[in-house]
Amino acid sequence: MLATLDPQTKAFRDDVLAGLSAPIPAIPARWLYDLRGSELFDEITRLPSYYPTRTETALLDGIMPEVAARIPKGAAVVEFGAGSATKTPLLLDAIGPSAYVPVDISGDYLEQSAADLQERLPWLRVLPVVADFARPFSLPPELAELPKLGFFPGSTIGNFVPRSATDLLRQFRSLLGPRSQLLIGMDRVKPVKRLLAAYDEPEGITAEFNLNLLTRINRELDGDIPVDAFRHEARWNDILSRIEMHLVATRDVEFSVSGKRFSFAAGSSIHTENSHKYGHRGGRVLLLAGGWTPISEWSDADEDFAEILAVAEPERFAP
Ligand code: TRP
Repeated sequence: MLATLDPQTKAFRDDVLAGLSAPIPAIPARWLYDLRGSELFDEITRLPSYYPTRTETALLDGIMPEVAARIPKGAAVVEFGAGSATKTPLLLDAIGPSAYVPVDISGDYLEQSAADLQERLPWLRVLPVVADFARPFSLPPELAELPKLGFFPGSTIGNFVPRSATDLLRQFRSLLGPRSQLLIGMDRVKPVKRLLAAYDEPEGITAEFNLNLLTRINRELDGDIPVDAFRHEARWNDILSRIEMHLVATRDVEFSVSGKRFSFAAGSSIHTENSHKYGHRGGRVLLLAGGWTPISEWSDADEDFAEILAVAEPERFAP
């Protein structure tokens, strides 16, 4: 069994077995996105109560002339993630970059979305890179002499705890180099009622998305988790300024995964995702800590979502 697991499944199994045995049980959120999970997340982005995608898309659309005015001609855009079919073309159309480099860990998904984009924007040089953007990797040599703009929309930064978010921002900075720029989306702190509604809505799609993780574990890791013994829960953690997604046991349960036994008492939970929300100053301090100096910030009229443009200033010999 061990020898026949492909590297992806082996990594999944290692994360799940370690995560379920941890003192605070937790499974990394990236495993939520199998084929079904990706479809469900796509549905989430169209829900009335899930404001982030819609708000950021409209915001980007409105600010593009101002963004474009601040980006050097002939810049190369490096997007962390395969890119969204709606948000990415807004940026590329506005600034007319010399190259576009989407970076994603999923090779299949990346090839597909890069091909779709190439068809839509035939004038653009598209150079996809298959890599985990949270780990060191290299850019295509064609980019060496070009000014660079990193693009990190979707408030994905909020899915990292601030310590890891800082590491990630520093890694972007060393990848893109001095004087490069970063356009990043961040979801704002807002009334708890609205936050909770975005992560636990009456339609139940988010619940299905979260619970699909257990179905995936059963299917891919030879598990027998009674999925109906868990329910989705979104919690606001005020001191850490984040929404947390949990799967809570509704009764005492025992199950096995890959031959290992686990038991969960009624009310105990498996933590599956964090979504940190930032205030105006908090978001900018996070960028500064990661080596990026904010130069412009835009928000929608309700201040639900922010887009920040920052520069990697050359190191200064000062405290
Ligand atoms: N990046 C998304 C967010 O934080 C992911 C997400 C939305 C999510 N809804 C979810 C993750 C529910 C887990 C469960 O907004």
